[in-house]
Formats: sequence, C-alpha cells, structure tokens
Amino acid sequence: MFDAKKIREDFPILKRKVNGKTLVYFDNAATTQKPVQVINAIRDYYENHNANIHRGVHQLSQEASQMYEDAHHVVGKLIGAKWDETIFTRNTTEGLNLVMYAWAMRKLKKGDEIISTVMEHHSNMVTWQFLKEMGIKLKFVGINDDGTLKMEDYDKLVTRSTKLITVVHASNVVGTINDVRKIGKIAHDNKALFVVDGAQSVPHMPVNVKKMDADFLAFSAHKMLGPTGMGALYGKRSLLQSMDPFMYGGDMIKQVTLEKSTWNDLPWKFEAGTPNICGGVAFAEAVKYLERLKMKNVRKHEEEITKYAMERMSEVDGLKIFGPGDYRNRGGVLSFNLGEIHPHDLATILDEFGVAVRSGQHCAAPLIHLLKAHATTRASFYVYNTKEEVDYFIDVLNKARKVFG
Ligand code: ALA
Repeated sequence: MFDAKKIREDFPILKRKVNGKTLVYFDNAATTQKPVQVINAIRDYYENHNANIHRGVHQLSQEASQMYEDAHHVVGKLIGAKWDETIFTRNTTEGLNLVMYAWAMRKLKKGDEIISTVMEHHSNMVTWQFLKEMGIKLKFVGINDDGTLKMEDYDKLVTRSTKLITVVHASNVVGTINDVRKIGKIAHDNKALFVVDGAQSVPHMPVNVKKMDADFLAFSAHKMLGPTGMGALYGKRSLLQSMDPFMYGGDMIKQVTLEKSTWNDLPWKFEAGTPNICGGVAFAEAVKYLERLKMKNVRKHEEEITKYAMERMSEVDGLKIFGPGDYRNRGGVLSFNLGEIHPHDLATILDEFGVAVRSGQHCAAPLIHLLKAHATTRASFYVYNTKEEVDYFIDVLNKARKVFG
C-alpha cells in the first residue's frame, strides 16, 4: 500500500518549520528531499567502508569497490539496463555532455544535423549548440498551445543528414510526457541516434531503455531521493564500446606506456579519476527505496496529486496553468501564473507561509518565451506530498491574490 503520510516519516526535513510554518516542499523538480535510509547509507559508508576503489588489495578498498560496482547494478536495473551500460556521472547535464563530446564531436562532420525540441532544458539545448562551430546544424521541433510537441515537425525536419534526435522525456516546465517510443522510432527509421533526457521521468514513472529503444538516456540522483552531484548515463553497449573516452586519467585505462594507452572495460572507461563513491552507494539506496514503493505506484500517486492540484487551482481566480490539460499526459509539474503577480513575488509570499516552489525561467528560457510568459511559478510534487498540502497551498494562493488585488 502506497501511503504518503507514512512515507513522510522517513524524511526528517519535512518536520522542520520554515518562517514558523510547517514546510510544504513543492520544489521537487529542482531537487527532492532525502529519506533517512539514504542519509544513513552516506553515514555508514564513511563510518565503516571508506577507501578508494580499484586501487587497493586491502579490505576497505575491496568493500568500497564492491559497493560501488553493486550500485551500478541497482541503478541500471531500474531502467532495464545492464550494469556496465550504466555510467555514473555528476548529473544529467554531464551525461548529455558526455554524449556530445565523446560521440557527437568525434563522429559527426560538417553538414550533419541534430534535431532537438524547443521544450528542452538548457542542458539538452546549449550542449548541442556547441557543435555549430563544427558546421553541424541544430533544428528544433516546436510546441502546440497546450504544451505538447508538434509531432508533425519531425517529418519536415528529418533529412538524410539527420544523425541524432534528442528529446526530453518529461518537461520540467510544462510537464508534458513525450512519446519517446514514437520519437525513437523516427530516429532509428532514419538511422539517427536517439538520446533521451530522463531527468524528470526516471524519478517519477517506470522507464525502460529497451522499450523506448534509447541509445542514450541521462538522469540525476538528486531528483530521485539521492545525493546531489551524482547521476547516470545509460548507453547501448555497442555504442559505448565504439567510443573513445570522455575524460582521461586514472581508472579509465587498461595499459599505459609513455607513447599510448588502452582503455578500461565498461563502465570504467567513462569514469575517469576517483569517482563519487559514496554518491554512487547513496544513489543505489535511493533507487532501492523507490523500488520498494514500486515506480508504477509513484506514478499513480503523482497522477492523483496532480489531478487534485489542477482541479483546486482551477478554482483560483486568474490562475493559468501551462501545459497539457489532461493530468494523464503530464508529470507532477505545474507551472502557472496568477493574474499579474510576478512569479518571484508569489514565490516569496508562498515561502512566508512555508511553501517552497520555484519561480523564474526554470533553465528553459526559449520555452518560457514561446509560452509568452516572462517567468512562471512552478509547483512540483513527489512521493511525500499530500492533498492536504495542496489545500494549504491553494489557501495561500488565495491570500496572495487578495494582497495583490
Ligand atoms: N532542472 C531543475 C529544475 O528544473 C534544476 O528545476
């Protein structure tokens, strides 16, 4: 049984007061809170197992190496991947940069084309812009008024030069869940690679890289109960094997002479230097926590909260929600504006009442401009949020509306 009230007991921070009020944490798309199980795993690692990996025959090094390797198995399994196709990174941004530097920059040439969308987070937009100086063309699929992708654009944009198609699985602004299976098929029918930004989907719903046939999928630990500075990139084994490393140095090599070096096996080939060992261990603990809840239940809970929040928000005069009108087509991310109140002012009032939301452009400036909103306020939900919190949030929105007339 999925019980958000019981889940809350695992999150110490939810007991704290903010401005004298009980914290209502609705900024989960930015980062989620951490359960005691993850906090304890970090403590346990440093108290009992800390050592560098792959470098010592001593007991602690063996333990740390095993724990770090096991973490790859746990995180990979969540998305239907093998452990050695699961590369640990710092975050989604680094995963996408790895694909850009280690695949696109080396395999593409002048005149090749990449198709992204206008819905992307900067991490899946700015990263590819960098290739323009190599003469690689970047094209963007547009959006409809309801915040869904203009799927018909793919037909217009794909050419024989299209070498990579990338898309965000679930938008961090409009919440839209994109049809990755369909987009993946378009990519592969045209012999292009398919790259998915899973930052806002992997934490919230069942995701399987094989079913969507992704060539690469990047996501972050901190948006799914894990630590910051930790993420993962899935890559198809044959692709990863065909690529040169992203970074060079310790642990990613097999043999080194003064003249040349050979590369280590996967995934270590792409994990140069001492990695975030504890971060990996804690990431696995976060994944285990979510697996105990079951990802289909996580999704169901978020659908319920999102549906309820959308209904209640529609009762607030002058409130406009961006993105799909049907909660089933979106993640638990609600970007909105309330009359003429500036999102930063609204977020400040909400904070005075203990409600944490994000305001601004959400690292997606082009999308915000297309929505004809200079900025938005964003409430985003996770496993510990309740309908009672939504009710409280609505009360504060109504108060704000009165203050600003
Ligand atoms: N990408 C995160 C967000 O949308 C930080 O808030």
